[in-house]
Amino acid sequence: MLEGARRHAGSLAHALGQARAAGLARQDAQLLLLHALGRNDAHARAWLIAHDADPLPAAVARRFQQACARRAAGEPVAYITGRKAFYGLTLHVDARVLDPRDDTETLVDWALQLFAPGQPWRLLDLGTGSGAVALALARERAPPAQIVATDASADALAVARANARRLRLPVRFLQARAGDWFGALGGQCFDAILGNPPYIAEGDPHLPALRHEPRVALVSGADGLDDLRQIIARAGAHLHPGGWLLLEHGWNQDAAVRALLGAAGFEDVRSRRDLAAQPRCSGGRWPGRQRRSSSALPMTLSDDSAMAAPATTGFR
Ligand SMILES: C[S@@+](CC[C@H](N)C(=O)[O-])C[C@H]1O[C@@H](n2cnc3c(N)ncnc32)[C@H](O)[C@@H]1O
Repeated sequence: MLEGARRHAGSLAHALGQARAAGLARQDAQLLLLHALGRNDAHARAWLIAHDADPLPAAVARRFQQACARRAAGEPVAYITGRKAFYGLTLHVDARVLDPRDDTETLVDWALQLFAPGQPWRLLDLGTGSGAVALALARERAPPAQIVATDASADALAVARANARRLRLPVRFLQARAGDWFGALGGQCFDAILGNPPYIAEGDPHLPALRHEPRVALVSGADGLDDLRQIIARAGAHLHPGGWLLLEHGWNQDAAVRALLGAAGFEDVRSRRDLAAQPRCSGGRWPGRQRRSSSALPMTLSDDSAMAAPATTGFR
C-alpha cells in the first residue's frame, strides 16, 4: 500500500506520525498506541506495522493522546503501560520502582557466563527494584541455583514479589534497611553478589529528567559512589572464596569502581561495556578457589514469606 494511503487522517499510522511530530521516539509511540489499543502480546509491534492503515477508534485516540501527554511530560513509557521487557521477561512496573534499563542486562549476561546451569549456586541481587536481575537469574538458573534479592524499599519489594509470583519464579526476597546493604543477610555467604545500586551524584544535571523515578533508586551522595563504596567494602564478608561481586555503575565510574574493588582485596578486577559500548559494570573475584559443591545448601534466611516458588523448584 502507498505510504500516503496508509497515513490517511484517522488511521493508526496517522496517529503515530502525529506523536512523532510532537517529539516522541518511534518505539515509544508504538508502545503507547498498542497500550491504548489494549494489545500487549509478544507480536503486537509486528501487528501494528501490518495494520497501520486501520482506522483509529475515537476512544483509543483519546487514550493515546493522554498517554502521549504523560510521555511528553517525562514519564517513562513503562510506567504508562505498566510493563517492561527485561531479559525475555515481561515485568509489571510502576512508579514504586526504577524503570529497568536494557543496560542492566549486561550484568545478567556476565553472571550467567560465570555460573553455568545445573549447580546449586547461591546468587544475591542487592537492590532488586522490580526484581529484574533476580528474576532473570532465576529463570535461567533456578533451580538448582538459589536466588536471594533485597531492597530497602517495601514498595519495591511488593512489586518484585508480585512479579515473581506472576512469573512463578523462585526468588527469596528480604527487606533491607536504608543505608545498610548487608544487615538483612546475617552471616549468609554467596557465590555471587550482583547489584545495580543508586549511582547518580546529588547535583547531576540529568536528575530532573528522572523525576518520575524513586530518588532512593537513583542518588548516592556527592559523587554517586556512596552505595558502591559500602557494598564493595562489605561484600567480601558475604562471598564464598572465589565468589564474584558484579556491580553496575555510571558510564564514567568504571575506573573508580575498579580502584575500590582492588583496594578491598578483589582479584581479577575488570569492567564490561553495555550495548552502547559504555563501561557499565565492574566486578572482581574474592580470593580463594571457587566453590563447586554438588548439593544445594540449606537456606537459613529467616524471611521467606515472599518466596514465590512453585512447588517443584526445590526451595525449602
Ligand atoms: C538503581 S535501582 C535498581 C533496581 C533494579 N535492580 C534494576 O536494575 O532495575 C536501586 C535499588 O536499590 C534499592 N536500595 C537502595 N538502598 C538500598 C539498601 N541499603 N539495601 C537494599 N536496597 C537498596 C532501591 O530501593 C532501588 O530499588
